[in-house]
Amino acid sequence: MKNAIIQAIVLAAGRSTRFNTDKSKLGYTVCGKPMILFPLELLQRLEIPASLIVGYKAEEIKEVVKVAKIKNINFITQEKQLGTGNAVACSKKDWSKDHILILNGDMPLLDDSIIEELIEKHVSTKATLSFVAAHCLNPYGYGRVIKEINKATIVEEKNCNESQKNITLMNAGIYLVSKEFLKTSIDKLEKNSVSGEIYITDLAEMASNQGLVVQVMQVSYDHVRGVNTLEELWAVEQIKRSNLMKTWMSKGVRFELAQSIHLDIDVEIGSGSFIGTGVHVLNGTKIGKNCTINAFSIIENTTIDDNSQIRSHSVIQDSTIGKDVIVGPFARLRSDVILADKVQIGNFVEVKKSKIKCNTNAAHLSYIGDSELGSEVNIGAGTITANYDSLLKVKNKTVLKDKVKIGSNTVLVAPVTINEGANVAAGSVITKDVPEYSLAIARGRQAIIDDWVNKKLKEKENIHI
Ligand code: UD1
Ligand code: MG
Repeated sequence: MKNAIIQAIVLAAGRSTRFNTDKSKLGYTVCGKPMILFPLELLQRLEIPASLIVGYKAEEIKEVVKVAKIKNINFITQEKQLGTGNAVACSKKDWSKDHILILNGDMPLLDDSIIEELIEKHVSTKATLSFVAAHCLNPYGYGRVIKEINKATIVEEKNCNESQKNITLMNAGIYLVSKEFLKTSIDKLEKNSVSGEIYITDLAEMASNQGLVVQVMQVSYDHVRGVNTLEELWAVEQIKRSNLMKTWMSKGVRFELAQSIHLDIDVEIGSGSFIGTGVHVLNGTKIGKNCTINAFSIIENTTIDDNSQIRSHSVIQDSTIGKDVIVGPFARLRSDVILADKVQIGNFVEVKKSKIKCNTNAAHLSYIGDSELGSEVNIGAGTITANYDSLLKVKNKTVLKDKVKIGSNTVLVAPVTINEGANVAAGSVITKDVPEYSLAIARGRQAIIDDWVNKKLKEKENIHI
């Protein structure tokens, strides 16, 4: 296999100055995935071993790689950010394969096929240096590629003269170099006269001047856009997101006002489903077939089974939702909520860490926390599970067995169990378990004082006289 003769160096040590934030740009996400993971995962897919050059905010970057469980990454530290040429030089003692693939870390739209084609061409033409270039309408900031017969050079923006600035062929930041050439050349790179940095791009001129084969592979610009500013991050994410949406559209998903929707790269949506305006579908969420997610809902790390409806403005995190369920509008589900089929959670209902069995309803204005609800339970408006013991600082459990009916404005003081079929009268504060099929009433009795209003009015008249 060709990839067995190749190893990769990914550059991620740069200071990200043009982001104007105090974080490394490579930790920023594109459709939910930190930027640095795009080249690393690509290399994993192609089975190319990789070294990652870290420096600025190295610990942040290492943590991102660790959390993503990317294996076999060899971290190398670039102590001072002296430029891309210096970053590559830091990995010198680890070069063992015949060809070294060098990738900038800030290209999240890069496609596997570009690297595969680059390797193919590099090997078949016995090139010393191959690199990727693309035409773009506004090449400002990129190195410009000057192609002449048997020669290719890269001139950085800062070094371009007026006519070179008009060149639209940009250097993408992807280089495949023979190890022997790299070994002999890397220490010969000199500091750039304008910026004082050492540029990896100077290798092209060096190889050309020695009459070695330098190959420029042209690709479509959208695959190799670099991200140096937050504006470029925005542009790249727009492209990534619309590509994701196009894929889901082709599989039968309808997006209402697609440009307003946020979709992470790792979500799944079944055919026939509808995603409304401004919806966020995030972090590994799986939506089944024929579901409706209405406007401005946020769904994160959640599984929703077929034919369920999430009505507008609902926020759902870390939950599992069955078939034919209705949630919202304005509902909040969080921290491991499990809803069985045909459950209905209505407006202004918050559910936390609870299991609810099928055909149960909580239609209005309730809090259900640390609870287990059986099937065919009805929760009246304004019901609260008082789950927190503020003295012992523990959460207690509320259990409602099948067919329980809770009247409106009830407080269930946990730990408490309401047994099968029992009813709780509206306005009750329940502190003790309720036996099955019984009625619990725990509120002040109503008293009637006959003619009270008339008596009061007469008293008032007498005072005025
Ligand atoms: C670089 C290229 C430019 C090309 C563009 C493509 C050079 C000199 N220029 O410019 O020709 O058109 O990419 O997007 O290479 N880095 C380090 N250590 C450093 C400096 C940078 O590891 O000392 C890393 C950065 O974290 C980044 C990558 O190298 O991932 C490229 O650096 P960046 O500053 O983005 O270079 P550009 O100005 O975009
Ligand atoms: Mg860049």
